[in-house]
Amino acid sequence: MAPDYKKLYEIICDLYSNTNHFYYGQWDETFYTLRVFETCKQLIKKTWTKIDEEIVLTAALFHDVGKTKLDTEKKIKEEWDDHPTYGAEIARKILRDQGFVNDFVEKVVYLVKHHGDRPNKLQMVRTEELKILQDADLLADMGIASFIRPFLYSGKNKRKTINSVNYIKSARGKDGSISKENLYRLNLKASKRLAAKMIKESDKLNNKIFKLTESDLLD
Ligand SMILES: [Fe+2]
Repeated sequence: MAPDYKKLYEIICDLYSNTNHFYYGQWDETFYTLRVFETCKQLIKKTWTKIDEEIVLTAALFHDVGKTKLDTEKKIKEEWDDHPTYGAEIARKILRDQGFVNDFVEKVVYLVKHHGDRPNKLQMVRTEELKILQDADLLADMGIASFIRPFLYSGKNKRKTINSVNYIKSARGKDGSISKENLYRLNLKASKRLAAKMIKESDKLNNKIFKLTESDLLD
């Protein structure tokens, strides 16, 4: 059975809607999920190897759904680290309920469960499907998305806009750019090329906002 991605996305959005911390939080997970899904499609097109597209795209929708089960009030790192495991359970239940065959369900569950086991974190044999999901997960937070994130946090944390700009300044590397460390966490060459392009995009925006906020009033 071919997955009805729109329907699955709606189910996942409902789960986030019922989770105050994330849906209304500083980083809207439904937007992020959508970006990971679309980035997976983009990477699949760039890959020469045969990819089980339905598995990757379904896992993209479910990859962070475990966050709906986290008690973020606790802010315990171990709890956060468990979101792939929680997500695997939730994905398994929903996909079974939706009538997907066991083989399909378990392949999706595997990707959800291991999406955080990145190259810089864990030595393991990765399927091409896992490499794509892991890379898309990082790429979805680069470029314009990485530019807007500090401003989204502004609203939530009642932080002044200018302080978000200063935060971006402080987060930039010695060479003036940000997020380059993410390049080492990517699996595929195609992802690294795409990441370099996206980082350039966000650097451009960062430089523009630095210019816009140059003022004697702030000296
Ligand atoms: Fe995640």
